[in-house]
Amino acid sequence: MATGEKITISVIKADIGGWPGHSRVHPQLVETAEEVLAGAKEKGTIIDFYVATCGDDLQLIMTHGKGVDSPEIHGLAWKAFEEATKVARGLGLYGAGQDLLKDAFSGNIRGMGPGIAEMEITLRKSEPVVTFHMDKTEPGAFNLPVFRMFADPFNTAGLVIDPNMHMGFRFEVWDIKEHKRVILNTPEELYDLLALIGAKSRYVIKRVFPKEGHKIPKDEPVAVISTEKLYQIAGEYVGKDDPVAIVRAQSGLPALGEVLEPFAFPHLVSGWMRGSHNGPVMPVPMRMANPTRFDGPPRVVALGWQISPEGRLVGPVDLFDDPAFDEARRKAIEIADYMRRHGPFEPHRLPMEDMEYTTLPGVLERLEGRFEPVE
Ligand code: 13P
Ligand code: 13P
Ligand code: MG
Ligand code: MG
Repeated sequence: MATGEKITISVIKADIGGWPGHSRVHPQLVETAEEVLAGAKEKGTIIDFYVATCGDDLQLIMTHGKGVDSPEIHGLAWKAFEEATKVARGLGLYGAGQDLLKDAFSGNIRGMGPGIAEMEITLRKSEPVVTFHMDKTEPGAFNLPVFRMFADPFNTAGLVIDPNMHMGFRFEVWDIKEHKRVILNTPEELYDLLALIGAKSRYVIKRVFPKEGHKIPKDEPVAVISTEKLYQIAGEYVGKDDPVAIVRAQSGLPALGEVLEPFAFPHLVSGWMRGSHNGPVMPVPMRMANPTRFDGPPRVVALGWQISPEGRLVGPVDLFDDPAFDEARRKAIEIADYMRRHGPFEPHRLPMEDMEYTTLPGVLERLEGRFEPVE
């Protein structure tokens, strides 16, 4: 592995038990996953790994040379989750094994419960990468910040002043309901892109690509977001899937600080309390990513890495562990207070069709005979 060679970064995550409730991951689960991945590293299956947490979600970050959708890598992640699930069951953790929706692994982890963000890239001379990890929300929560990183000149100065990115980027957007995707070019189709991704529970940004003429090959992603569970299982399961993302930075891409800047604004996302409420997403270091109040508020963690020429993960740097994000955290608490005071009313509570579960059909059935026509 060296500059110019291909390497794959895989972030695969699952909620396999909360401690307590849906708050955080028990350290023994992290240790168990680390043991499984260390064994695979020793055998040469993966180059490097790190096990992170965000809320009650266990996050496997791996580098390897096997490309995206590798049965070997997905199988490894599945095994780590299975082993950790045994520990979770032993400890009686809440919802042990909740995201392992199938009994046996069958070649690809997509559609089996865990969330996946993967990209195969040609290593640049220096490869700065940020992995993002969110809890108590859904993949559409990345629409706004990823749009800002790669398409908003008020966020990313480089779009205006860096000749290497002035041409803009291409966005791959998935329609979760119709199982279709479309690629939109920015800045030319900025308004069309916004028309779609503003509806964040239906249209989600899956990847961002460079344009023709960029230093990075046109078909190599520069950002990728986990959307699989939502996409595969939509229809039978409307639950929120706590998402992850991988974003490359610098040198013709948004600078590290331009990648982080969108999170200085704690925007409203869906998925708080019972997957059925809107609330602000709070940027926090990993040690503070433990939702408590009303099972939240939703959190986002940003881990910074340099990928070494051998594909090693040099990091993590816990990027929101910085007073520069104190104000965003304070604002998030203020917004959380404001939203909470709405109690069971929209728009704190999600609209009926987006709720993870609801008593409404039962209530309507009971009241059926008492409804009478209005003049
Ligand atoms: P329980 O019925 O499992 O307590 O659900 C509440 C909850 O936290 C939803 O995920
Ligand atoms: P998770 O999706 O993080 O398990 O949270 C479930 C929930 O509904 C908490 O209120
Ligand atoms: Mg949970
Ligand atoms: Mg979670």
